[in-house]
Amino acid sequence: SLRAVSPDDMSGKHVLITLGPTREKWDAVRFWSNPSSGLMGACIAMAAWLRGAKVTVVSGPVNWWFPADVNVIKVDSARQMFEAATDVWPECTTGCLTAAVADFRPVPHGDSKFKKAGQDSLSVNFESNSDILKTLGATKRDDQELIGFAAETSDIEKAAAGKLKAKNLDMIIANLINMPGAGFESFTNSVYVLDKSGRAEEWPNLPKTEIAWRIWDLLLQN
Ligand code: CTP
Ligand code: CA
Repeated sequence: SLRAVSPDDMSGKHVLITLGPTREKWDAVRFWSNPSSGLMGACIAMAAWLRGAKVTVVSGPVNWWFPADVNVIKVDSARQMFEAATDVWPECTTGCLTAAVADFRPVPHGDSKFKKAGQDSLSVNFESNSDILKTLGATKRDDQELIGFAAETSDIEKAAAGKLKAKNLDMIIANLINMPGAGFESFTNSVYVLDKSGRAEEWPNLPKTEIAWRIWDLLLQN
């Protein structure tokens, strides 16, 4: 297999990856979500697998192909993703959370379909979801390492430094999601990488496959 001819420099690691959007159900036919494709996370998972790691993927509602020995846990909502990720985290050496988790979920209308008749506007209330990355960071042991992402529309360096510290991360990959050739639904990305030692790098616009490989290169250097 491909794995036999690729480097084995991640063997011994058990990597947890979250990817894709979450869906927060409101009524029988409607949900709150975002356009995340899950591609960045899928590339990171495949790169880790090729390099010999054991891989567990917690996937939002997107469909990617993974080799048979990758453990894929499919979830829908942020609460389900939280449950799955916190459940496997103690067994993992490494986490890389790429999912675009909904920060808030609508207070459900119920199991029936909301009907428009007689309504000329609609207000929906939201409640907050727990931060999965922050929760893993707070329980991170000395033998574990944790990578997060940051999706920004401005002040990328400041935001990256703030999230790295607040979530107790070893590395953060930040991107400006409103730039051409970057972010949601793109095959390429332009990222700013910061690690806990203060090393910062700005990478040129690269395919997400290449970014994935470089993230593991950098982590292994530390
Ligand atoms: N994240 C998570 N659980 C959440 C929200 C975010 O695990 N409930 C993770 C994302 O997977 C990503 C990182 O936290 O790795 C940063 O997500 P981002 O949306 O950029 O930052 P937030 O901390 O949610 O803050 P804000 O959206 O206000 O910028
Ligand atoms: Ca967020």
